[in-house]
Amino acid sequence: MDQGNYSKVTEFMLLGLSSSWELQYFFFMFFNFLYIAIVLGNLLIVLTVVFEPTLHTPMYIMLTNLSVLDVCLATYATPKMIHDFLHEAKIISFEGCMAQIFLLHVFAGGEMVLLVAMAYDRYVAICKPLHYTSIMNSCKCTSLVVGSWVIGVIHSLSQLAFTINLPFCGPNIVDSYYCDLTLVIKLACTDTYTPEVLMLLDSGLMGMTSFLLLLISYTVILVTVRRHSSAGMAKARSTLTAHITVVTLFFGPCIFIYAWPFSSLPVDKVFSVFSTVFTPILNPIIYTLRNKEVKSAMHKLKTQYINYRLPSQLSLARINLLN
Ligand SMILES: *[C@@H]1O[C@H](CO)[C@@H](O)[C@H](O)[C@H]1NC(C)=O
Repeated sequence: MDQGNYSKVTEFMLLGLSSSWELQYFFFMFFNFLYIAIVLGNLLIVLTVVFEPTLHTPMYIMLTNLSVLDVCLATYATPKMIHDFLHEAKIISFEGCMAQIFLLHVFAGGEMVLLVAMAYDRYVAICKPLHYTSIMNSCKCTSLVVGSWVIGVIHSLSQLAFTINLPFCGPNIVDSYYCDLTLVIKLACTDTYTPEVLMLLDSGLMGMTSFLLLLISYTVILVTVRRHSSAGMAKARSTLTAHITVVTLFFGPCIFIYAWPFSSLPVDKVFSVFSTVFTPILNPIIYTLRNKEVKSAMHKLKTQYINYRLPSQLSLARINLLN
C-alpha cells in the first residue's frame, strides 16, 4: 500500500457505554463508587497480608499480587470511562489507544497466569502436603509471580506487534468505552482478516492454555478432596470454592468476548465492563467475607490499631486541654 496516500488517524472516538444522558449520570455515580471500592478493597487485602506475619505464605503472597493486578485491570480504562461519562466527545489519542490495548493484555494475561500459579499452589498443598514447603519455597513463589508478569508482557507485545503497524486512515469510531483490540483492528484500511485471525489465535492460545491448566488442576484437587473427607479437607474446600468462583467469573466474560470476535454484539460491552470492573471487586468480597484466616487477621489488626490509636488520641486531647 502507498504510505503517502492517506492521512493517518491521530485519535479515536469512543462511543462509550450509552448515549443517554440520564444513564450516563447514573453510570458516573455508580462506577465512581465501584472504582473507589475496588481500590480500597484490594488495598485492604494487601495491607492485611503485609502486616500479618501468619499470612506470609505463598498463597496469600500470590493473592496480594492478584489484588495489585486487579487494581491495574480496573485502572487502565475505568477512570477514563468515568471521566467520559460527563463529556460528549469521548476522544482518545492514537498513542493512548495503543497504551490501553497494551495494558489490558499485560494485566489480563498476567492475571490468567497468576490464577494458574495459584491453582498450582493449591494443588501442591492439597495433593502433596508433605512436600509443600520444599516445593513451594519463597524462591519458587517469586518466580511464579514474576513469571506471570513476564508472560503478560510477552503476550501483550505480540498482540501489539501486528496492530501498531496497521494503516489507520479514515474510520476512527470505536463502539466501546475503551480501545478494544477486536474493534480497533477492524478500522484498519487493509484486509483485516489475517490480523484478526492472528489476534484471535494469540488471545485464544493464552486463554485456552490457562483455562485448561486451571480445569485440570482443580479437577485433580477436587477428586483428592472428595477422597479424603477429613476436617482439614473441609477448610481446603472453602478455599477452593473461593478460587473456583474467581476463576469462573474471570474467564466467563473473556470467553464470551472472544468467542464472537467477528460480530460486535451489544452484549460485548456488558461483558467487557464485567471483566474490568466486576471481577476486580470480587477478590476483596470473596476473601474478606468468606475467608476465615483473612477475616481474623483483619480483626486482629483492627484491635491492634485501636489499642495503638486510642492512647495517643487521649494524650493529644490532653495536650489540647492544656493549651
Ligand atoms: C507479590 O509477589 C512478590 C514476589 O513473591 C512479593 O515479594 C510481594 O510481597 C507480593 N505482593 C505485592 C503486594 O507485591
